[in-house]
Amino acid sequence: MTVCEYRPGLEDIPAAQSSISHVDGQKGILEYRGIRIEELAEKSTFLETAFLLIWGYLPNRHELAAFQSEVLNSRRIKYRIRDMMKCFPESGHPMDALQASAAALGLFYSRRDLHNPIYIRDSVVRLMATIPTMVAAFQLMRKGDDPVKPRDDLGYSANFLYMLNEKEPDPLAARIFDVCLILHVEHSMNASTFSARVTASTLTDPYAVVASAVGTLAGPLHGGANEEVIEMLEKIGSVENVRPFVEDALHRKAKIMGFGHRVYKVKDPRATILQNLAVQLFDKFGYDKYYEIAVELERVMAEKVGNKGIYPNVDFYSGLVYRKMGIPTDLFTPIFAIARVAGWLAHWKEQLAENRIFRPTQVYNGEHGVAYTPINQR
Ligand code: SDX
Repeated sequence: MTVCEYRPGLEDIPAAQSSISHVDGQKGILEYRGIRIEELAEKSTFLETAFLLIWGYLPNRHELAAFQSEVLNSRRIKYRIRDMMKCFPESGHPMDALQASAAALGLFYSRRDLHNPIYIRDSVVRLMATIPTMVAAFQLMRKGDDPVKPRDDLGYSANFLYMLNEKEPDPLAARIFDVCLILHVEHSMNASTFSARVTASTLTDPYAVVASAVGTLAGPLHGGANEEVIEMLEKIGSVENVRPFVEDALHRKAKIMGFGHRVYKVKDPRATILQNLAVQLFDKFGYDKYYEIAVELERVMAEKVGNKGIYPNVDFYSGLVYRKMGIPTDLFTPIFAIARVAGWLAHWKEQLAENRIFRPTQVYNGEHGVAYTPINQR
């Protein structure tokens, strides 16, 4: 066996073989099961795309209807989960609440049956159905309100927005939200998916797989960047302040949130679609001054660091879309998780099909043969 050199962040090192999605970072192309993201964003729905990713093909009418109704009928959460969430501090981050709640679900379904396709399907349905309910429930309970029950006559995205705001969403907003979920659902071997696959490889249950991935997604270098983008745009405050802000940040070698990517060396195709979605929302519901700041930031960044391949990523424009829908900033990353859970589960299923536990090596750079020093001699 050839011994590989150590690469920090495992850059360019394949961690799995996968047929779920493909990223061409030079051309800015993203495909789910071979289908371009632009086409899915235009023609598909989130649940259909999730089916495609998890089962590997586009469902026919009957299969899609069956999957939709299974998910819609599984959206209620157990009262004990709700009561547990009520005890969470309202000042806590909703990603932490989600991670704890996803892990707690496993307490109710502790019998693992990883070779049984019915167990796999039930777990997929349960996690995809209850995660949005848990996110919305925590949002209402931290404000002191009771959670709103899911509405059976509303689709996946419309129902989530309804549970969050206690009113039926505008149809355009619901469709745009659904497209956002399509754009966030899967992205090859990103950090949270890697985390999900490592956890899956131990043959633990899918609740632990999702909980570990949620924890990984939360960090500001990954999914958490979407919240920081909005905070940064608010801090910049005006178009005139953009250039000095960028120059100062680059001088300090600080990272500009929502820019850069390990794989993309051009603008992330999801950022382009999200930018268009934001504009559609502004056309209908009124302008947002932070959009102009974002566009100027993109322009100045292209001028300063475009030659290094640093362009907007998926997290750059998503926050402007969610903000226009009135969603609180600290729910942006949980919404990323609502989408990505389907991607994680597709990888869970793929990992189980040809499992071998992850156990990489390391380059040991410590000492050998060190004598033990008794405590009174230290
Ligand atoms: C996601 O992997 C995925 O697929 C993730 C994701 C998904 O769908 O799952 O696409 C979602 O996580 C998007 C990324 C969200 N994170 C951010 O927006 C945080 C800001 N971005 C960076 O921290 C960074 O670009 C990363 C984390 C996204 C990528 O990190 P890398 O590949 O380890 O790159 P690096 O930090 O080693 O940077 C390489 C160079 C450095 O310059 P030099 O030291 O070589 O001169 O690029 C510079 C960096 O300083 N650089 C940036 C920058 N990103 C990279 N400089 C300023 N601002 C930035 N954002």
